[in-house]
Amino acid sequence: MTAPKKLHVKTYGCQMNVYDSERMAEAMAAQGYVATDTPDDADLILLNTCHIREKAAEKVYSELGRLKPLKARNPDLRIGVAGCVAQAEGAEIAARQPAVDLIVGPQSYHRLPDLVARANRGERAIDTDMPDEDKFEHLPQLRTPAARPTAFLTVQEGCDKFCAFCVVPYTRGAEASRPVRRLLDEARALADRGVREVTLLGQNVNAYHGEGPDGRTWSLADLVWAMADIDGLERIRFTTSHPNDMTDDLIAAHGECPELMPYLHLPVQSGSDRVLKAMNRKHTAARYVDIVDRLRAARPDLALSGDFIVGFPGETDADFEDTLRLVERVGYAQAYSFKYSARPGTPAAERAGVPAAVAAERLHRLQSLLTAQQRAAQEAMVGGIVDVLLEKPGRLPGQMVGKSQHLHAVHVADAAGWGGRIVRARVTAAAPNSLAAELV
Ligand code: 5AD
Ligand code: SF4
Repeated sequence: MTAPKKLHVKTYGCQMNVYDSERMAEAMAAQGYVATDTPDDADLILLNTCHIREKAAEKVYSELGRLKPLKARNPDLRIGVAGCVAQAEGAEIAARQPAVDLIVGPQSYHRLPDLVARANRGERAIDTDMPDEDKFEHLPQLRTPAARPTAFLTVQEGCDKFCAFCVVPYTRGAEASRPVRRLLDEARALADRGVREVTLLGQNVNAYHGEGPDGRTWSLADLVWAMADIDGLERIRFTTSHPNDMTDDLIAAHGECPELMPYLHLPVQSGSDRVLKAMNRKHTAARYVDIVDRLRAARPDLALSGDFIVGFPGETDADFEDTLRLVERVGYAQAYSFKYSARPGTPAAERAGVPAAVAAERLHRLQSLLTAQQRAAQEAMVGGIVDVLLEKPGRLPGQMVGKSQHLHAVHVADAAGWGGRIVRARVTAAAPNSLAAELV
């Protein structure tokens, strides 16, 4: 018998890529490929790439340069590029890097086994179509027990919002929601495998409008309530949301659905109405703050996270001050902030950016403020009680690591044997990015 072929997947970018990488690994497992953690002994290497900012996209080319010599050692090695860079720059990758054997866009993963077979025959296989069919319908169902008690579940893909800076509407295509029945089946299968917490994923997840089993179109709130009824699923989260789709039923669910965790990633990008307009965000800073207030009225302990871009074309000092003011007003438990990166093909790429040094300085100031807020929020947890879903052993003997309701990373002492369960713990100390706790 010949040894099974080995697959190494390297994932860049967002959680949706993490989910897609798992689905691709399952599809290839059905073809006899076993997963390996290193590229060195792999027969197939897949880079699941991210195109959101220039830096992310450039990583692909440097990684390909590093992987190329492996082909001299193993002539049967096949290298593939998947994800959003494959979608956006497939032809350029093919031209720039002859070591690449296959290129597959995010909407074509169900064709991966066929593409790999072609690559193994020595063909160069490229598929960056955006077919109408649901790729997940054609991917194998999960069978093995879950390695972790948490899982991602893609419920919606693509984006129709066309923010002026963003490549997503081009790389992931138009908004599409998966049907409710499929999602509930998948969530039940996850719960049966030991998953206790599911994060519903979508580029615009709160714009979810899927076909319900009753023939109605279901909202994300409807879906959350149905997921909450599944035996064994104790926690539900969703990401990423757009303020304009934060509907009343979803805000209410944050107050009323005990399984929906009190943490929300709600990007605003800027606190200046002028910049928000230039970004084509279609909401004002005041509207965003009002949504946050209504969410907090529904769920007072809601932890908020956000995304910010500094140095967007035309952003003045006064605009940037508005962003700082919004951050002060909202108070974030956690946030991501980026220097604007001009992406080819997006409307904003045509406009003149702010000087790099100005953008760098603004990023530094914004990050200092966000870090201070995060630290203060972490410190405030000391002495309090948290519910932690324990995921894996920590570095210390007996220690287990997991997430609180508010998505803090928590190291719980003397908790061996509690893996996969939700425990109550008292917070004993706060570090910048995690909490220490003991069982109560
Ligand atoms: N430049 C910088 N940041 C960007 N983002 C998206 N596009 C760009 C860009 N061109 C950020 C936004 C988004 C997050 C996923 O990435 O803040 O919410
Ligand atoms: Fe990109 Fe805007 Fe769509 Fe988010 S809402 S994916 S930032 S276009």
